[in-house]
Amino acid sequence: MDRLIINGGKQLKGTISVSGSKNATLPIAVAAAILADSASVIHNVPDLRDIDSLCAVLQVLGATTKFKNSTLYIEPGNRIAYEAPYDLVRKMRASIYVLGPLVARLGVAKVSFPGGCAIGPRPVDLHLKGLQQLGAEIEIDGGYIIARTDRLVGAEMYLRGPHGSSVGATANVMMASTLAEGQTTIRGAACEPEVADLANFLNVMGADIEGIGTSTLTIRGVKQLHGTEYAIIPDRIEAGTFMVAGAITGGDVFVKQAPAQHLGVTSEKLMEAGVQLDWTDDGVRVRTPQALQAVDIVTDTYPGFPTDMQAQMMGLLSITPGVSTITEGIYLDRFMHASELNRMGADIRVEGNRAVVRGKPKLSGAPVMASDLRAGAVLVLAGMAAAGETIVSRIYHIDRGYEGIEEKLRGIGADIIRVSD
Ligand code: UD1
Repeated sequence: MDRLIINGGKQLKGTISVSGSKNATLPIAVAAAILADSASVIHNVPDLRDIDSLCAVLQVLGATTKFKNSTLYIEPGNRIAYEAPYDLVRKMRASIYVLGPLVARLGVAKVSFPGGCAIGPRPVDLHLKGLQQLGAEIEIDGGYIIARTDRLVGAEMYLRGPHGSSVGATANVMMASTLAEGQTTIRGAACEPEVADLANFLNVMGADIEGIGTSTLTIRGVKQLHGTEYAIIPDRIEAGTFMVAGAITGGDVFVKQAPAQHLGVTSEKLMEAGVQLDWTDDGVRVRTPQALQAVDIVTDTYPGFPTDMQAQMMGLLSITPGVSTITEGIYLDRFMHASELNRMGADIRVEGNRAVVRGKPKLSGAPVMASDLRAGAVLVLAGMAAAGETIVSRIYHIDRGYEGIEEKLRGIGADIIRVSD
């Protein structure tokens, strides 16, 4: 297993580029492989384990996929298989995205029930509710979700759950309804940019979706969708992570292709903490000319503060003077990184879904373990800010969502290497 060894205390300086969005690519690749009747060429695709894992699922379903130089070629199969097996789905929660498209295209789908993960339970009830409202019959058998229908029929539905709208359920049901008979209205739809990117892609494939980026989506079903050429939006979470990297090391970093329009609240919170952000058409320059100050953060669905930036922000606040609080509104248990940061000298107390972070003057390097993707990212950030050596293990979590993280960070002056056992 690979580990990252970081010698901290270097101020980062220079330009770092943002790759395409992982969370936008995943459903878009599914739509291209299952809903379309011809090949697609998708540009600005990040080279990530999660994308490889999804392509393995799409191949089992009959599609041909080829990845080269940030471009993913997807050719749907002549015969599409209807079963996504446990062995592949367990590696890749987003495999649940194939459920809606398969049942829309074939009238039947069998997809292994995805489990929970380190960030807590991750139910799929809203995915199933939406598909049922379109007329799919759902059965759970032997750890599999089986969905069947003669033909999906458009419907009106409300898809918010106890923690707000669901990115995955909105994407799944929206994809299914593009091929349903008649009109579907999804109220309480997720407004995340990745859902909007999927909707834009579907429209280029020939779908008819209105209300993109809002909480009410109207989808008029069409008979067929065709392959197309498309470029994925930049990854706002990778961009946000690099912005924190600049701030946490007291550096001067230009984050190229950071999408200003998708980083509203993240930018606001960084500025409230005293980070200077200078935006250009091409990205953002990040500096910390003044002392940082404590802030309070509550994670929420878009356009609120993203749960996927919570861990990274906790890293920054752990060396920010004063007492900050972080309330997690989406995944109530998503604080596994707090105890690892404490091992590096942070002072973080978690009470329920709230973390109280008392800023320390500095962190010290330590051996630490990544428990999930963003928890891994904050350990790298903390390691770069800490005095001495930090060894981050279980970095396969980081590789799921950050393309060549050590090369990118080395490019702006970080002392970070990957070692294999
Ligand atoms: C997506 C992102 C993930 C991000 C999350 C929230 C992908 C591949 N992953 O995950 O990085 O952290 O959005 O922004 O895009 N819920 C239900 N029932 C459901 C589905 C979800 O109660 O059927 C709950 C979840 O437990 C959670 C909340 O709704 O509390 C939001 O989850 P959701 O938006 O669905 O997250 P994902 O799509 O799984």
